[in-house]
Amino acid sequence: MMKAVFSGMRPTGKLHLGHLVGALHNWVRLQETYSCIYCVADWHALMGDYADSGNIRTYGREMVMDWLACGIDPKRSIIFVQSDVPEHLELQMFLSCLTPLGWLERNPTYKEQMREITTRDIQTYAFLGYPVLQAADILLYKAHAVPIGEDQLPHLELTREISRRFNTTYKAEIFHDCEGILTPTPRLPGLDGRKMSKSYGNTINLSDSPDEILAKVKNTITDPQRLRLKDPGHPDVCNVFSYYKAFVPAQEAATRVWCEAAEKGCTDCKKILADEVIEFLRPIRERRVKIAADPGVIEAVLKDGAARARAIAVATMQEVRKAVLR
Ligand code: TRP
Ligand code: SF4
Repeated sequence: MMKAVFSGMRPTGKLHLGHLVGALHNWVRLQETYSCIYCVADWHALMGDYADSGNIRTYGREMVMDWLACGIDPKRSIIFVQSDVPEHLELQMFLSCLTPLGWLERNPTYKEQMREITTRDIQTYAFLGYPVLQAADILLYKAHAVPIGEDQLPHLELTREISRRFNTTYKAEIFHDCEGILTPTPRLPGLDGRKMSKSYGNTINLSDSPDEILAKVKNTITDPQRLRLKDPGHPDVCNVFSYYKAFVPAQEAATRVWCEAAEKGCTDCKKILADEVIEFLRPIRERRVKIAADPGVIEAVLKDGAARARAIAVATMQEVRKAVLR
C-alpha cells in the first residue's frame, strides 16, 4: 500500500506563483509516489479571521479550481473541504484535552503572528488552538508525510508531540510520527522583494491575464544600483533574476552574463521574463477557464472527496473513542 500524504491550504484568496512554486508543484509530484489527501482548511481560515467569514466558501471553490488546473488529480488524490468532515473537530477535542497550554503558547509561529498581525483579531481561544486542529487533520488520516512551508514546521513538531502523548496516555498504538516534506525550491519573493503575499499586493496570480502579468513584471523592483543601461547589474540582488531561476532555468546563465556585462537593459530583461511567465502559466490558465465554466465539476469533486475522506476519518475515530472512553 502507498503511504499517505496529507496537506492543506487555507482558502484566503486567489493562488499565486508563490503557492505554485512553494507548494503545488510538490503536491502534484507527490501524487506519483503517495496516496495524497489535500484539504481546503476552511475552519483554519475561520480561526484566523472569524469576522470576515463571508468569502471562505467562494475562496475554497476558487482554490480547488487552481489546484485542478495545476495538475492535482481528483481521481488519484482525495480533495475535500475540512468542514465536510466533522470528525476533524471531534478529534481536535480529544487532542485538546491532553495538549498543555505551554506548548501552544511557546509555538514560535504563534508568537510571531501575535506580534505581527494587527489587522485581524486573533486574540482568541480558537487561534491559540490552531495547531491542535492541524494535528487532528494529519492524524485523522494517519499521514506519513506532510508537505509544508518552513513556517509550519513547529506545527508538525507539535503534531508529533501530541500524538505521542495520546498513545502513551491511553496505552494505544493508533498514531505514528509524520515527517515534513519541504519544497526543494527556495522561496519566491514578491514583486517588491518581500515575501509573496496577497496582503502585500505583490503577487502574480495563477489566473492573471497576459496583460496583467506584463504590467506586473514591468513594475518589479530590480537591482537598485543599476540606474542606467551602462551600469553593470547584480543579478543576485535582483527580483527579476530570482524569477528567471524559478521559471526559466535554461536562461539563468545567459541572464547573469547580460546583466553583469550591461549588455541588456532591465526593460528588455523584464519583457523576456514576462513572456516566459505568460507561456509558463498558459496551460494552467487555459485549464482554469475550462474548469470554471462548469462549477458542477468542482461540486462533484468535493462531494466525492468528502465521502472518501470521511470513510477514513470515521474508522480512525472509532479507534480513538474506544481507546479513550472504552
Ligand atoms: N496551517 C496550514 C497553513 O496555513 C494549512 C493547514 C491546515 C495544513 N491543516 C493542515 C497544512 C494540515 C498541513 C497539514 O499553511
Ligand atoms: Fe535584474 Fe535583468 Fe536588470 Fe539584471 S538586467 S538587474 S537581472 S532586471
